Amino acid sequence: MCGIVGYIGSKQAYPILINGLKRLEYRGYDSAGVALLDDGIKLYKTKGKVADLEEYVKNKDITGTTGIAHTRWATHGEPNNVNAHPHLSESGDIAVIHNGIIENYDILKEKLKKLGIKFVSQTDTEVLVQLIEYVQKMEKVDLVTAVQLALSQVIGAYAIVIISKADPDLLIAARKGSPLVVGIGEDEFFLASDASPIVEYTREVVYLDDEEIAIMRRGEKLQIKTIRNQEKTPFVEKLEMDLNHLEKEGFDHFMLKEIFEQPKSIRDSIRGRLNLNKDRISMAGIIDFEKEFLNAGRITFIAAGTSWHAAKVGEYLIEELVRIPVEVEYASEFRYRNPIIDKTDIVIAVSQSGETADTLAAMQLAKSKGALVYSICNVVGSSIARAADAGSYTHAGPEIGVASTKAFTAQVTVLTLMALGLAQKKGTITKERFDHLVNELDMIPAKVEETLKISEQVKEISKIFTYSRNFLYLGRGYNFPVALEGALKLKEISYIHAEGYPAAEMKHGPIALIDKKMPVVVIAPDSVIYDKVVSNIQEIKARKGKVIAIVTKGDTVVAGLSDYVFEVPHTDELLSPLISVIPLQLLAYYVAVMRDCEIDQPRNLAKSVTVE
Ligand code: M6R
Repeated sequence: MCGIVGYIGSKQAYPILINGLKRLEYRGYDSAGVALLDDGIKLYKTKGKVADLEEYVKNKDITGTTGIAHTRWATHGEPNNVNAHPHLSESGDIAVIHNGIIENYDILKEKLKKLGIKFVSQTDTEVLVQLIEYVQKMEKVDLVTAVQLALSQVIGAYAIVIISKADPDLLIAARKGSPLVVGIGEDEFFLASDASPIVEYTREVVYLDDEEIAIMRRGEKLQIKTIRNQEKTPFVEKLEMDLNHLEKEGFDHFMLKEIFEQPKSIRDSIRGRLNLNKDRISMAGIIDFEKEFLNAGRITFIAAGTSWHAAKVGEYLIEELVRIPVEVEYASEFRYRNPIIDKTDIVIAVSQSGETADTLAAMQLAKSKGALVYSICNVVGSSIARAADAGSYTHAGPEIGVASTKAFTAQVTVLTLMALGLAQKKGTITKERFDHLVNELDMIPAKVEETLKISEQVKEISKIFTYSRNFLYLGRGYNFPVALEGALKLKEISYIHAEGYPAAEMKHGPIALIDKKMPVVVIAPDSVIYDKVVSNIQEIKARKGKVIAIVTKGDTVVAGLSDYVFEVPHTDELLSPLISVIPLQLLAYYVAVMRDCEIDQPRNLAKSVTVE
């Protein structure tokens, strides 16, 4: 959460910083600010979005070839002008931007206050900048050493960038637990929370590791040291990122664009893993640890939000096809409950951003207990991908909309490939079943394309439910996690209360909610429990609920019982989540549009949840 950008070089920093903030706005949008450095520090910050900052700096002096900028998701202190970043030291000579949480900030603040230092904001970040200045003055050391000394007193997570009036040719950055990428250009350096603000200037990047400090001096080479002053050789990587992914390309919102990108993102996630004859699946990360996977006593997924829902589909797939017991855990619970994990366990972290703090902490716990830790991430080079023993990337491309869509289907695709590949190796699947499922999987991108054609129909039906106050989503088997996902999508972008349930659980409580005002979305494609779902729909209709059903093309039974029907192409039940989730994504999108909600940046949320 929070997006940070920095620049030092020969160009004017402001346009680079502001464009960078726009790319990172998905990380937080409570306030935005920029500090530019030439003779002194020019600081501009305001509550609101990056557009508000642009408005605020109009007619102000924005010159400077060094600068830092920030877009905030508030943790300590309400979102207002004062708490917005950058923060200045008491003298005004040092400016800092920060992503993360300083957990011992109150102890440090009290100490500094007793020493006579005055604070203006409620943030933990201001404590950090005051501490750096205090250490520099007291110890009479250079800024890099002061940053090292100050950070060694800090408990918590941070990605910080620092500039100082006393040294306008220097930009310093450090990270622990929050991401930071350095871009290396021709006599210039870029810094950002992810690579998206950097990619149009340079493809050469260095991902900082925990407790590393990047020292970027104008005209000199990048230098990396640790907090304990150990010299490190920068590991330069080549960025592979399609710039088009970072633009809306004619769509009204990133979310809609990303929904429509799914045929491609699913195809990209299959590509290279299913061979041409479709008789073998190879996933590099798994090949290296094949023995461990085939002999695993248990697989435990750790994830949050939409990634947790994808992992739940993974549980059904792996248990059914590979016959290995699977648990799916909320990373936030797992990390604090002393779980039973040992060397025979494989723990798989699933995350779009690869930065979710709870998932990262949960995987570190699993590692410490001896488990093999695997990751399924979308963002290349992210903290979770780097912390894992091995992993597979989903190839969904950058997902900008806060509501996750194409990341979910890419995760389910990778999990399907994983389950099929392991089942083949383990001999837990017949050749006929394997051939049938890989053929079906290969056809999924085309079927998603076909499903997307119902977009206009979904839009029309959304109008009927724009002002509903509650929704229930029901599904069974492989489509139970899809029900959870549909409900999450609706609540996060339209702010309508929605609950997902296994359809048969309805009679154990939620049925009490059903009346003629309650829309109930029932996911009822062809499946072995189709008849059971029909009975569940009868129960809803008997209580006058309004049924919106997702059915397989040609269905007459559920279609005859339901008030509204979205038809989707037939596929094997195991792969049906990849298709049945599409109408739910569209429904959430159009209801939110009708309600005039902020689609890509829903209130209180951020794309990458790097705090607990
Ligand atoms: O980046 P991650 O997949 O680890 O993120 C997990 C959740 O924060 C995320 O899925 C969240 O629930 C989305 N906003 C859902 O659309």
